[in-house]
Formats: sequence, structure tokens, C-alpha cells
Amino acid sequence: MTSSIEIQRVKSSKIASVDFDNLPFGSVYSDHMLTCDFVNGKWQEPKIVPFAPITLDPSAKIFHYGQSIFEGMKAYKDTDENVMLFRPLENCKRLNKSAERLVIPQIPEDIFMDGLKALLEVDSDWIPTNDGSSLYIRPFMFASGTGFHASPADAYKFIICSAPSGPYFAGKVKVLIEEKYARAANGGVGYAKAGGNYAAQFYPTQLAIDKGYNQVIWTDDNSHQFIEEAGAMNIFVRINDTLITSPTSDRILDGITRKSILQIAEDNGIDTEIRKISVGEVVEAAKDGSLKEMFGAGTAAVISPISGFGYNDNDFDLPELENPYAAQLKKLITDIQTNKSEDPYGWRVML
Ligand code: COI
Repeated sequence: MTSSIEIQRVKSSKIASVDFDNLPFGSVYSDHMLTCDFVNGKWQEPKIVPFAPITLDPSAKIFHYGQSIFEGMKAYKDTDENVMLFRPLENCKRLNKSAERLVIPQIPEDIFMDGLKALLEVDSDWIPTNDGSSLYIRPFMFASGTGFHASPADAYKFIICSAPSGPYFAGKVKVLIEEKYARAANGGVGYAKAGGNYAAQFYPTQLAIDKGYNQVIWTDDNSHQFIEEAGAMNIFVRINDTLITSPTSDRILDGITRKSILQIAEDNGIDTEIRKISVGEVVEAAKDGSLKEMFGAGTAAVISPISGFGYNDNDFDLPELENPYAAQLKKLITDIQTNKSEDPYGWRVML
């Protein structure tokens, strides 16, 4: 199917204007994008076209009811110019899980995978090779169908575009444990990558930034006594030598980085626990010195170490460790992703 996808190439590439040694995250876009429309009850033929603004009717339901979902993925290139993806089918499956919850039609696996591969072939020069850089890929689907009736649209767009990117965060982040707002609720859409989940974070995050923090640690919506996620990432807490993460649920994203890290940690002799983590336990551990590390994990940032946290008007610093789990695990996972080590799991997909 790869070769049967229609390709309209750019007349002139923008690539010469990009400084690949100083890439921002997600704000410089490669030349092309894949687009595919769902109309008349079925997905049409996907196409690769120049990356450009799209035209939508002002009554498109995406604008009014936020029927929109996305994924985050990365492509890497090794020194022999091999192009690789990391567990791409997991992203396709999760996009369809999100689609089900938002009543968006399922995207067929061949449109997702063959479209992605064809796009990466056309834009392969855009995949950075510098350490810490990659081509961040953003597949997304939204309601392009029109009408003010509050019901699912009758037309959708699936688009994949990409951005050669450097690190998501510049350094360690200081976080505030949230005591009032929540990003998700039981029976809600927290487990889905719905655009609105992220928009709903902006206000509490801005309040935290105003107080001098970088991100919010989300707690459960009911009691605010259990920590659940870190900003737009899953969370890991190390108490003594055990690495703990919260169980996935209606409220927590089933992160691909999260589950890969759990597997790698176990296979490298790190004790892991998947269980509820109470705020009280983290505060006590910070006080008695058994709290060694906290970090966020997600595709964009991979692993984002936390330098300290605020809770109930108190600030707690995390220790500076010699060889933290965060650094060990980041190296292990990125070496698999970038073909610098064996991949005993079969996660790396070479194109
Ligand atoms: C990712 O880590 O890829 C995400 O989807 C989070 C995003 C908001 C940057």
C-alpha cells in the first residue's frame, strides 16, 4: 500500500532553513503531511500533501464540541541512516481506543501504518540524528463534519504531521501537587488522548506556574489524596530502591513509555510496584529521606526528572543522586529506540 498512496510533493523544501543543532520541541514542521477524510460513512484514500493550513467550516464540530484525539510518536535515524519507530502499533491501538470513547470512527491499521511509513519515506531527511533529537510525529483525528447539534459529526479528518524536535523540557522540573483541580474523573475521558484533557490542564498549570512551579502533579478527583499523573505524563516515584507508578484506570493514560519503562526496570533488577501512591506517603518519604526520585514519563519528554515538589504551602527538595534510575532508564530506553543497543522486546520497528 505504501507505494499506492498519492504523493503531492512540495515545490521547494524548507529544510535548508532549519537549524538541526538547535531544534525547539514541536514548532518546526517537516515538508509534508498525510491526510485522510472520513465521509459518506467510510475512510477515503489517504494522500500525502505539502504541510499547509487546512480549511474548515466554522460550524465544524471540532470547534464546538471538541471531538478530537491525538497520539505522540517519534521516528529516529541511526548512523547508517536506518529509520526506526518505537512500538507504533501501540499508538494505532490507543488512537482507536480514544476514538471509541469520543465516537470517532476507527482508523484502519493499514491507513495508519502504511500512511506513516510513506510519510517518513518522503520526509526522511527531516529525521534528526543528533543525540536527544528525533522527529516527533503527531497523528490526530477530529470532527470536520458540521452542525450545532450536540451529537457526533458525520465527517472526520485523520492527519499525520511531524516536527524535528529537541528536548521537551530544558532541565529538571519543580512540580506542585494539586489539591483542588483534577484532570480526569471516573467514567470520564482521562485514559483517552482527547485534546480537551490537555486544554483542561492549562488553567491549573498556569496557577502553578504563577506560584513558581513548572508543572502540576495530578491527584485523584475525589479525595486529592493519591497522585496519578505528572503534567502531560505518567508519574514514577522512587522510595528507597523501589520504583512505583500508579495503576492505569479510567483516569490515567496507558502510556507506552510508562509500560516500556516498567518492563526495562524489572529486567534490569529494579524492583517495581504498580499501586496507588498516596500524597501522605510521598510527603513522609520526603521528610524521612526515603524519597529518592520522582519523574514523569511520556513520549515527548521520555523521562523528565523532578527536582522538588510543593504541597500544602510547603516545598520539598529531592536529593541529587550519583546514578539515578531516571538517567539509567532513559539511557536504556533511548538506546533501544535509536538502535544503540539490542532490542530484546521487539519494540523497535525498522522501516
Ligand atoms: C507525548 O508525550 O507525546 C504527549 O502526548 C504529551 C504531549 C502533550 C506533548
